[in-house]
Formats: sequence, C-alpha cells, structure tokens
Amino acid sequence: MGFSLTKEQLLIQKSAREFARKELLPKAADRDKNAEYPADSLKMMGELGFLGMLVPEKYGGMEVDTVSYALALTEIAYACASTAVIMSVHNSLACGCILSHGTEEQKQKYLVPLANGDYIGSFALSEPEAGSDPASMTTTAKREGDYYILNGTKRWITGGATSYLFIVLAKTNPEERHKGVSAFIVTRDMEGFVTGRKEDKMGLKASDTTDIIFDNCKVPAQNLLGKEGEGFYVAMSGLDAGRIGIAAQSLGVGWAALDLAVEYSKQRVQFGRPICENQGLRWMIADMAVDVEAARLLVLNAAAKKDRGEMCSKEASMAKLFASEMANRVTANALQIHGGYGYTKEFTIERLYRDARVFTIYEGTSQIQRIVIANEVIGDKKKKKKK
Ligand code: CAA
Repeated sequence: MGFSLTKEQLLIQKSAREFARKELLPKAADRDKNAEYPADSLKMMGELGFLGMLVPEKYGGMEVDTVSYALALTEIAYACASTAVIMSVHNSLACGCILSHGTEEQKQKYLVPLANGDYIGSFALSEPEAGSDPASMTTTAKREGDYYILNGTKRWITGGATSYLFIVLAKTNPEERHKGVSAFIVTRDMEGFVTGRKEDKMGLKASDTTDIIFDNCKVPAQNLLGKEGEGFYVAMSGLDAGRIGIAAQSLGVGWAALDLAVEYSKQRVQFGRPICENQGLRWMIADMAVDVEAARLLVLNAAAKKDRGEMCSKEASMAKLFASEMANRVTANALQIHGGYGYTKEFTIERLYRDARVFTIYEGTSQIQRIVIANEVIGDKKKKKKK
C-alpha cells in the first residue's frame, strides 16, 4: 500500500520538522535532566497552529487532516518525546472530544483558547484502581442545581500539574458500569480541583504526570460534554484518535533512534574499520529500518481512515500496538549499537530508550490494543459504536 502525500501535507511536515529540529532538539536533553516543562516551546507551537491542528478555522484552528497532524506529531516526537505527548493529548483528546461531542457554545468558549495554546488540555480517565478497565471508575458526579459535584481521584494524568483544561470522566450513575459514565469539561480554577502527587517517572521527564483529586469540585452543569451516560463513548472515540497520536509519537522516537544508530555506526571504529561494515550490525539496521517503515505505513493508514470519516478503532489500535512495540525494539537495538556509550546520559539514545518504555503502556496497553483488534477481527463481540 503506497502513500503519496499531498503538497499541503508535505509542507506541514516540513514546517514541523524545521521547528522541531531548531527549537525542541537543542533543549530536549536539559529538559529531560531538569524535568522542565516546555512552556516557551508550547507557546510557540500555539502561535504556529500545532495546538489546534484538527480544529476548524472558525474556532482559530489550523483545520488540517489527521494525516498532516500525524506527520507533524512524528516530527515533534523525533526531537522531544515529552513535548509530543503534551501535543498528542491536547490535540487528540482535549480538542478532539470537544470537537466531536461539544455544543456550539462549548466549542466557542473552549476551542479558541485551546487552539492558540492559551489553554493546554488534558484527559482524566484513569484512576488508582481503574486503568485498563475504566468502566470500573469510582469518581462520581452528582447533579446539584446548576452544578455537578465531582468527588474522586484520577491517576496518571499527563499535564495534571500544568494543563488548564481537563476532559474528566465520572459516574453520574455509580450503579452502572460504562453506561453510568459522563464526560465533563473541567478547568483548574474550579472550586474543589486539587493537584495531587507528582510521579517520579523513568522517562518523558519534561511532561508532568500527577494525580488529580476532586474534592466536592463544582462543575457548571453546562460543562457536561455530550449527554449524561454517554461519557464512555466520548472517551473511547477520543482514544481512537489518541492512539493514532501515540503511534505517531512512537514512530518519531523510533525514527530518531534509527538515525542515531546509523550515524554512530559509521563513526565508531573497531578492529580497524567502522562498525557499520560488519554484517551482523548491517542486518540489525536493516531490521530496524523495516520496523520504522512498517510503523509509518500503519500510522498513515489509520490517519487516512479517520480522514475518510470511517470508524478506525482497529486501525488505530494496530498502529499504536505496532509502533509502540517498534519504538521499544528499535531504541533497544540502537542503544546496543552504541555499546557502553549508549548506557550513559552523554548520548541521546539513553533518553530515547527511557522515553519509549511507556508507549506500550499508556492510552491502552499492548494487551488492550490486542483486545480491541481481536474483537474487530473475530467480530463475535461486535456492537454498534457511537461516534
Ligand atoms: N468508540 C465508540 N464506542 C466504543 C468504542 C469506540 N472506539 N469502543 C467501545 N465502545 C462502546 C461499545 O460499543 C459499548 O457500547 P454499548 O454497550 O452501548 O454497545 C461500550 O463502549 C462498552 O464497550 P465494551 O463492552 O467493549 O467495554 P469494556 O469495558 O469491555 O472495555 C476496552 C473495552 C477496549 C478494554 C476499554 O476499556 C479500553 O480501551 N481500556 C483501556 C483504557 C485506556 O486506554 N486508558 C488510557 C488512559 S488515557 C491516557 O493514557 C492519556 C494520557 O494521559 C497519555
């Protein structure tokens, strides 16, 4: 299956590449070392349109297709995986859920500042006891007059300490599983919103991950996203787009690792010749290149399917599963090619290896992606999906 990109898609890829290599790449190592949030780069990304890529122009967005978005995200991830996850969650999940399920009033109010980067958006689904099984969440939302009162704890929230807006999933009917879940647009300044403990992670250090605690948090009733009881569908369809984003992020990191391995193998001389002249190593590099290319095609395939307005759960999960595992294989082999040097913080591959590790875990583990794919392929659990 070939992919020929349009002039516009190539232009977006080029401008994302130029921005990422000039602005993000030189800062990525220090940001990793100091766990420094890329605030100034995100401001620039807002000005350039990278924070409202799928948002219509009438709400201040760039209004490009998912293929262009995936191409741009891959370039950002090539330079800085931490910035890429912030961009992915913001575009795919925060903007995406409001775009697909928001009222006109919600779109006017929230998409404009999200698209220009004034607000950074996040997604609050997981809980301490509800990760792969979000329908078992215990956070509640009780209607009281003009407000919903939220109580509970969310965990593993990307941007929990830094984002302003959150798509929050909570149960309006705790007796039910997924049919009791509703979605809300919550902002940090709402009464009862508390930032919880920050995780000390292995990688993606420049992107904070925290708990969020809702302590009688007062959310205006007009911030219900979709109808009561429809929150699980909001989250699941959002994750279809989110998984394309994480697949593109994985692709960017795998690609960067391959390039680093090639460059190093040409420079490193052992036994009187560059190590790239050894057949064992050449075959490793060939396998890595095939892995990266296969992931690229799966990412583009899922994005193109979404652009055609078709359900893309299976393709998004295939892209996410393959690309995230590819990034782990390729960064591990690229580190191996760097030998002892690759195990030190002086070489970029050490950061890529740590960053890649979470790709097979967040936005659905590899095991969850296999459930989604198998359900679709076997077709015995087919239900009508709501967009
Ligand atoms: N789009 C729309 N609707 C969907 C859907 C989709 N992609 N997938 C499922 N649904 C619907 C089903 O049709 C069903 O609807 P009905 O009952 O009305 O027919 C309903 O949702 C429930 O579906 P299931 O019975 O299949 O639900 P389940 O409880 O068995 O779970 C699952 C399915 C795929 C395992 C799901 O729970 C899942 O994706 N789990 C992983 C969660 C996850 O990815 N978490 C990531 C956290 S976010 C994150 O990491 C972001 C970050 O900050 C980086």
